[in-house]
Amino acid sequence: MSGYFIVFEGGEGAGKSTQEARLASALEERGLTVVRTREPGGTPAAEEIRRVVLSPDYAGLDPRAEALLFAAARGEHVARVIRPALERGDVVICDRYLDSSVAYQGFARGLGPRRIRELSLWATGELLPDLTIVLDIDPADGLARFEQRDRLEAEPLEYHQQVRAAFLAMAEEAPDRYLVLDARDDVDAISAAILERTARGLGIG
Ligand code: TYD
Repeated sequence: MSGYFIVFEGGEGAGKSTQEARLASALEERGLTVVRTREPGGTPAAEEIRRVVLSPDYAGLDPRAEALLFAAARGEHVARVIRPALERGDVVICDRYLDSSVAYQGFARGLGPRRIRELSLWATGELLPDLTIVLDIDPADGLARFEQRDRLEAEPLEYHQQVRAAFLAMAEEAPDRYLVLDARDDVDAISAAILERTARGLGIG
């Protein structure tokens, strides 16, 4: 595939969407075609699944059912949006992906990171990002930015601390495919670091 697949990961309130928007415009200014999308979601059916998994109405959702729903949404999203875009040669910028399942369902929910990773790899036909940008934030700071929380944001702080540790551990294992940035840094400095690393990855640096 000739495109380039970039994923943003991080805790709640890390400022992912601001940075995704900035990166998308910077790449478009350089003449690249960018597809911006998000998980869970990105297709009509996957957005329906999103509504179910994030709804406070289903507070007691079984953890295994939850993990399967995230994987199902991801399979649909990859098949209909991400893989076709990469085959056209586009840059895909996706808000969250497989590592979110590994961190939230695998580690924090205790379902096992290996199994959850395998499930998503199966669902997506083994599609992994070229680059993952982790906007790292202490969950106590990140969650303070929200007043109304969805079902997952309402989990205890300890859950979010496990999520944070999981992202950092995954990044440490494959440093050439991750960029970890402190989300409290200056917004412009973060954008510059992301663009520099992305341009290098794309070979347009
Ligand atoms: P969203 O409102 O998009 O959160 P954010 O702005 O922080 O990305 O909600 C997505 C929520 O779903 C978030 O709490 C993380 C969680 N999630 C999982 O638990 N597993 C997954 O595989 C994905 C993609 C998200």
